[in-house]
Amino acid sequence: MTASCVIEARELFKDRVSSFLLKRTPVLQSVSLSVREGETYGLLGPNGAGKTTLLKVFLGLLRADRGDALVLGKPAGDREVLGQIGFLPENPYFYSHLTASEFLFLIGRLFAMSKNDLIDRSRHLLDVVGLAQDADKPLHKYSKGMLQRLGIAQALINNPRVLFLDEPMSGLDPIGRKDVRKILGDLREKGTTIFFNSHLLPDVNELCDRIGILNCGKLVAENEIKNVSGSGDYRDLEEYFLSCVN
Ligand SMILES: Nc1ncnc2c1ncn2[C@@H]1O[C@H](COP(=O)(O)OP(=O)(O)OP(=O)(O)O)[C@@H](O)[C@H]1O
Ligand SMILES: [Mg+2]
Repeated sequence: MTASCVIEARELFKDRVSSFLLKRTPVLQSVSLSVREGETYGLLGPNGAGKTTLLKVFLGLLRADRGDALVLGKPAGDREVLGQIGFLPENPYFYSHLTASEFLFLIGRLFAMSKNDLIDRSRHLLDVVGLAQDADKPLHKYSKGMLQRLGIAQALINNPRVLFLDEPMSGLDPIGRKDVRKILGDLREKGTTIFFNSHLLPDVNELCDRIGILNCGKLVAENEIKNVSGSGDYRDLEEYFLSCVN
């Protein structure tokens, strides 16, 4: 693993403005962090802490009011960099009349992948996420967990260097969670940089090299996972998490 920085936030501020009376609420307050190449970084925090907002800033879907967000050394949202990023949103949207194969084909074409590459890649990914048998079923017949698996597959279609995942285990059964842990573990071995939000501490514990804890828009703690999962001053990650947000 090289020490080069792949994801970086420098004193990010972001307010959300409500439609009612245009009231401004600070959502990110001076957030600074950096993720090295090949690192798996887990962002934890209570509901409403600002995790999804931060992720959207890194993707260029939201613009910070102040500060810098950089991915692969370029400002967030840079087109060339977006081609090297995979993204699973918190609430992915699927065209329900398409089949899983057709959906992956559509996403791959957005990355300008060739038809031949896409046939192989989508077959491989559907197999990896356990949807090979259902590849030709329309998505309105998919369960929530099946859609989440497809969401993971689409995030990997372009063989990304950097992967952003917003609650990747959400809605998955224990088998699905185990499958996704395996997929992410394999990507980590391959050197993919992974940044994800999660509330599922055992998964975070197993997958991450390092964690950050966001509370009320502030990054209140950062640590190597090995320092907070059983050894040292904390019984486990849950105890560490609770001590940081209370
Ligand atoms: N579209 C929006 N318009 C206005 N405020 C928003 C919007 N989306 C989120 N917020 C506010 O921003 C804050 C942070 O929301 P965010 O979705 O980033 O939290 P989160 O940490 O991802 O929470 P969760 O764990 O529930 O997914 C919350 O106070 C929320 O009410
Ligand atoms: Mg969220």
